[in-house]
Amino acid sequence: MTQQQPMRVGIHDIAIATGHHVLELDDLAETLSVDPAKYHVGIGQDAFSVPAADEDIVTMGAAAAQEIIDRHGAEGIRTVLFATESGVDQSKAAGVFVHGLLGLPQNVRVVELKQACYGGTAAVQLALGIVARAPHERVLVIAADVARYDVDTAAEPTQGAGAAAMLIAADPDLIDLEPAAGVFTADVDDFWRPNDRSTALVDGRLSVSAYVNAFVGAWDDLAGQGGPAYDDIARFVHHQPFTKMAIKAHRKLTQHVGVPFDESDLALGFTYNRQTGNTYTASLWIGLAALLDLDDDLGGERIGLFSYGSGSVGELITGIVRPEYQDHRRQGRVRELLAARVPLTVPEYRELHAAGAATSEDVERPRVTAGPFRFAGVRSGARHYERTAQA
Ligand code: HMG
Repeated sequence: MTQQQPMRVGIHDIAIATGHHVLELDDLAETLSVDPAKYHVGIGQDAFSVPAADEDIVTMGAAAAQEIIDRHGAEGIRTVLFATESGVDQSKAAGVFVHGLLGLPQNVRVVELKQACYGGTAAVQLALGIVARAPHERVLVIAADVARYDVDTAAEPTQGAGAAAMLIAADPDLIDLEPAAGVFTADVDDFWRPNDRSTALVDGRLSVSAYVNAFVGAWDDLAGQGGPAYDDIARFVHHQPFTKMAIKAHRKLTQHVGVPFDESDLALGFTYNRQTGNTYTASLWIGLAALLDLDDDLGGERIGLFSYGSGSVGELITGIVRPEYQDHRRQGRVRELLAARVPLTVPEYRELHAAGAATSEDVERPRVTAGPFRFAGVRSGARHYERTAQA
């Protein structure tokens, strides 16, 4: 009798979207009389994306998902999982708007997931379970966020906006995700956003130590679940609220494991996040997209993916990059999107920030975005979205 090969399930494709505008941190530094090196070196960020008045998590999520549908069609997609910290409605899932904008078939289940920045990884885990039970199905996972803190706070330079869409499938083209996972939960008040606020509250120092503890705790759990040895993981990608955070956490892990640390090993995975800023649920996956696009030596290698969501939940998973991944990546696409962003002055950004809170009052939004979908406004209390001429 021939031995059956275990089924491969994982990431078949990944596409990224971001906001229409960009704020250079050099400009913020000048306004706030801060040494720009604090941003570029101290926190490891260069700029952040800002959504236009007619963009939000739905328009960015739909733009990323459209690229997946354009390449693969909707066949087999019976589930859409939308993860976000910055949901636009307390009841209706953001993914239902995306379902309509993309014209997906009606025989699809759609739901929204929340646990701060961790939600995207929870969605991937749920998707893997669905595909393992029904390998002919594919799951569209969308992670999209607008990271908003109050202006004139220490957290202001760590804002951002972006989305990642992934197709989770059997026999994936990009990455086989492995079954062992390291998980870690601790009830910590490091970052939270009460229902009456559009900006997050954060205890910055506590959030940094909570992230580090979750990473080390998830590592130990992964080891206990039969996960790989440190040296058997060729590259790591982390959730990147600011890229220096990943360096701090990784340094701690290498001390814990007793191996040398070279921070340049993480640099390629920082390339896009240094420009988008924090994208909460999408951050880890935008880091992964950068690694796949920019590293030519990943075929057959194991990578580690660490997700952290304040509050707090951490999870460390691993995957083996497919030998033929270079034929399926979207090299150049994210650089194109980042380069196309329209710069804002600090006063322009602050004006958009002040108007950025979700509202149930009727309003029409100006036509600004160059993306394929736009938030048209609120009519009779309900949000309306539409395709743009670019769609
Ligand atoms: P701060 O008060 O500006 O920090 O807040 P600082 O004064 O400690 O400076 C930061 C670093 O810059 C320090 O380096 C300074 O030495 C350095 P470190 O000691 O940390 O290595 N520095 C300089 N370097 C070079 N040249 C200079 C210079 N000056 C100073 N001239 C903080 C920083 C990150 C706390 C703040 O931005 C913040 O609160 N951000 C938001 C919270 C956050 O991102 N936390 C991360 C972990 S929590 C998480 O990841 C979850 C999250 O994504 C949300 C979710 O789950 O949904 C946030």
